Amino acid sequence: MLPIMASMPELQLVAGADVNPITRERFRTRYPDACVYSSVAELCSDPEVEAVWVSSPNRLHCEHAVEALQHGKHVVVEKPMAISLEEVDLMLAAASKHGVKLIAGHTNSFELHVRAMRKVINSGRLGKVRAVHIWSYTDWMLRARTPDELDPDQGGGIPWRQGPHQIDVVRLLGGGMLRSVRGTTGAWMAERPIAGYQCAYLEFEDGTPATILHNGYGYFMTAELFPWAMETLRYSPEEHVEIRKALRSRTRDEEADKQAFRIGGERDPNRVEESAGPKPWVPSDLGMVLVTCERGDIRNSANGLYVYGDEGRREIPLVGTLGIGMQEHRGELNELYDAVVRGKPVYHSGEWGGATLEACLAMMQSGRERRDVLLHRQVPMPADYDSELELPPDQPTDA
Ligand SMILES: NC(=O)c1ccc[n+]([C@@H]2O[C@H](COP(=O)([O-])OP(=O)(O)OC[C@H]3O[C@@H](n4cnc5c(N)ncnc54)[C@H](O)[C@@H]3O)[C@@H](O)[C@H]2O)c1
Repeated sequence: MLPIMASMPELQLVAGADVNPITRERFRTRYPDACVYSSVAELCSDPEVEAVWVSSPNRLHCEHAVEALQHGKHVVVEKPMAISLEEVDLMLAAASKHGVKLIAGHTNSFELHVRAMRKVINSGRLGKVRAVHIWSYTDWMLRARTPDELDPDQGGGIPWRQGPHQIDVVRLLGGGMLRSVRGTTGAWMAERPIAGYQCAYLEFEDGTPATILHNGYGYFMTAELFPWAMETLRYSPEEHVEIRKALRSRTRDEEADKQAFRIGGERDPNRVEESAGPKPWVPSDLGMVLVTCERGDIRNSANGLYVYGDEGRREIPLVGTLGIGMQEHRGELNELYDAVVRGKPVYHSGEWGGATLEACLAMMQSGRERRDVLLHRQVPMPADYDSELELPPDQPTDA
């Protein structure tokens, strides 16, 4: 997120905090004008800091968000918003008491292609939404992990880390009000004591179904179905083989591999490369999203969205028009700015994030108890969300 923050003229990157000295040093080198702190408490005591992006390990999200909120800072908190609903309630209470904004980010529901799908659904041109399906096969379990990421009790594993993405997108597309979840999770790699698999059937209040699936074990990759996406993989298929061998023989230097992807590391993805031009859509971790409506379907295309209707297939171009790429990672920063400066509502509110976490927890509980779990704290996405987003006109496509 740092390159994205730094690229926005509306924002000033004034400070960062981390307990890791290497990361602090690399941050200082890249952003010499910003202050660097070794604790969240110091960061929150800086009067120049108006808003804090909480991106620490999952078990600390609540503690760090509450600390910032108590200091009168607005907060964007990474997913999962917290690791219990009690923590969510503490965060909601702190935001309300101190009169500051709390945004539950940084899920794929902020991405432009998902928001464009919602716009098509809400336009009514395909009739009512009848089903949402999101399927993903990735190498998530082969990525380097810290010890806390390998502990399910601290929010480690696919259901904690990827559940919020898929569930948030399902909720955004279906309106928000889930009724029940029947799900399961799976952990079947001895070297990784966390779940690498999730799948769930979610039902909205009006009976509309949704399914989600994420298999992170890195054999089949969803990207194979979208050939242009293979080049964007974090690891090549050959590297998957090598990593799996290193994990099984316990010879992998996990800390070094993880640090390589952090700020300033050899494989830092540093998405600041705007100059590289617009990039096609790829399934990334979220996976392929398929929406079924009464009179048609919607799915991603390389260039934007395919909309299938009674007159055939049309395409809504998004790449290079509204700009899939860095622009779409500004979702919660725009929402924060609009709320603080322009007085607009927060849409991905703490209540919204709490509802997504509730469904995530329900998926895990359902897997343990092998039954449907009913939900009680769902909230709708207000109809005026994204009212300023205008899609380009759709065009005919070949085939
Ligand atoms: N939205 C997304 O797509 C996405 C992607 C990756 C990670 N995340 C989220 O970001 C968070 C971090 O994940 P990561 O992969 O970047 O892990 P990471 O280990 O690279 O980052 C966590 C950082 O927090 C620091 N930290 C730990 N304890 C701290 C403390 N007490 N005070 C201050 N800093 C502390 C660590 O030193 C580390 O630099 C997780 O919540 C994860 O779910 C979100």
